[in-house]
Amino acid sequence: MNYEFSDRLKNLQGNAIREIFKLLSQPGVISFAGGFPAKETLPVAEIKDITNRILDENGAEILQYGGTEGYYPLIESSCEYVKRDGIVATPDKTLVISGGQQGIDLTFKAFINKGDRILVENPTYLACLHILKTYEGEAIGVDSDEDGINIVDLAKKLVLYSPKILYLVPNFSNPTGKTLSVEKRQAVYELCKKHGCIILEDNPYGEIRFSGNRVPAIKSFDRDGIVIYITSFSKVISPGLRTGIAVASPEIIRKLTIGKQAADVHTASLSQAIVDRYLREGRIDPHLKEIVPVYKMKKDAMHDAIGKYMPEGIRFTDPDGGLFIFAEFARKGVNTDEIFKDVVEKTGCAYVPGSSFYADGKTFNALRLNYSNATPAEIEKGIKALGGYFTKLLED
Ligand SMILES: Cc1ncc(COP(=O)(O)O)c(C=O)c1O
Repeated sequence: MNYEFSDRLKNLQGNAIREIFKLLSQPGVISFAGGFPAKETLPVAEIKDITNRILDENGAEILQYGGTEGYYPLIESSCEYVKRDGIVATPDKTLVISGGQQGIDLTFKAFINKGDRILVENPTYLACLHILKTYEGEAIGVDSDEDGINIVDLAKKLVLYSPKILYLVPNFSNPTGKTLSVEKRQAVYELCKKHGCIILEDNPYGEIRFSGNRVPAIKSFDRDGIVIYITSFSKVISPGLRTGIAVASPEIIRKLTIGKQAADVHTASLSQAIVDRYLREGRIDPHLKEIVPVYKMKKDAMHDAIGKYMPEGIRFTDPDGGLFIFAEFARKGVNTDEIFKDVVEKTGCAYVPGSSFYADGKTFNALRLNYSNATPAEIEKGIKALGGYFTKLLED
């Protein structure tokens, strides 16, 4: 059958990471490629207990259809939750979403026409680029410094491209682990306001901070209704619950809600009720106290192994939180896409090639390493093997 797929999807390849997972099914491969939360941090017993109580007390109601905006108790507890980022939210400015990913999708669905441009920090979250393509938008990369997006380049590109949206992950970005400084957050806000550009602030990792001080969300400066803030319970409770929150002006929330009606009617009520109880019962902070040290221990293990085994000529980020370290080869000729299969075969380790994270997909001398999914012993073994491979590569 010769399928006539839509123009939107017919030339679109699968998300690079999802494709890599297929390659990694051989037993024994140490994967630094994923972005999963550490398995041991998932609160299985607590969720089991909460779920039983919800079904005992309120089963029939929770197994029924619900409103698209979300389960009202969760909307209320979410308004409370985002206060920790300096955000003042009210129910009319809040939408429960099926994970942060859906927040990006609904935003682009609401704003992007074919050919519309958005700005992203280079490199950025690859699924954002992927989602944008499904709406036939164009991503323009903005340069990045140690403390996040480069303000001079941002100012230039706001004028040059008249983008509709700037997409940013200000805390422990995926893929770099970088955090945007407070001064830059203010500058980004003022510049976008001046140029009528919406800011999509994506914050899935902010609570996974193991060093440095909390920085207020860009949304906390928003007096003009230009920031759409999304966060998610995937990394702090469980990704399988597929639950997150969007906070924006009531007009934007209404449009996102209309898009969500068409997408999935509402986020699963049972998941919403579980997250609501988790928050209301004051479980989140004790849980974070337990899990953040796990991430710190793994990040330290990877950072130390990098110091021991990696050659000169590769620069690594050193994040204050989140799940990722990003590496850039000083030599532009290194192509991490081309060597990927060989690396997996020879070292038994996998990373994500950097090109997937760049707006134009053409920067090949970088790669992303995830430290949350391996044990410290696997991290040491894997980085040692990768270090050996890269040492040889740079000598040739
Ligand atoms: C930057 C960023 N945004 C959004 C998401 C989506 O997460 P979820 O849909 O599970 O909330 C991820 C997941 O890895 C991410 O890294």
